[in-house]
Amino acid sequence: MIIAVDGPTASGKGTISKALAAHFGLPFMDTGMLYRAVGRQVALNGGDADNAADALAACDFSDSLLDNPVLRDEATGGLASRVSIHPQVRAALNKRQVDFANQPSGAVLDGRDIGTVIAPHADAKLFVTATAEVRAQRRFDEMISRGLDVDYENILADIRARDKRDSERADAPLKPADDAMLLDTSDMDAKEAVQAAIALVEACVDSTL
Ligand code: CDP
Repeated sequence: MIIAVDGPTASGKGTISKALAAHFGLPFMDTGMLYRAVGRQVALNGGDADNAADALAACDFSDSLLDNPVLRDEATGGLASRVSIHPQVRAALNKRQVDFANQPSGAVLDGRDIGTVIAPHADAKLFVTATAEVRAQRRFDEMISRGLDVDYENILADIRARDKRDSERADAPLKPADDAMLLDTSDMDAKEAVQAAIALVEACVDSTL
């Protein structure tokens, strides 16, 4: 079984995807980490994330970079969003994701274009959303708990900017696949969101038996 999970930043898709993978016994790929690695590598190379050639050159990052906690930083997320606009970068990262999706065991992948581009044939597709304000509050709480000095309004502005860039790009924009199940987690805590996601996937898989 292939499960595709897409949605905007801080929607809860990462937590949901990991829980789905554990529940259904499937391997999991967080595809955002690939774009984050490219964004980070551009910075390490002294390149410009908005320049297609610089971004493409950064696609040969070393796999060890994927384990580096710096990839989780907000700054790296912003670079990832910028490099992910370039079709050459998306093409360079495509095979790795497609191969992961199509391995014999099945898989769970989360990202922006899993249900539309990487695995349009997925057995279950979830599009996880929440209002920008709720997502900013989640990110704010998480960063405060890590001891960071952050401002809610700045986080909200960053989230809106990232949503706009991800949704308006020409190649593989963030949008639900026609056959995706929408899951709005605005009024759910993490546990409720995970339970709702498992129920949606089980109902979807049952209906195809
Ligand atoms: O964790 P968060 O939702 O903040 O971001 P992420 O999933 O790690 O993705 C970082 C950035 O990579 C996103 O803002 C997208 O621009 C890009 N991305 C993408 O274009 N396609 C994907 N399949 C995954 C991420």
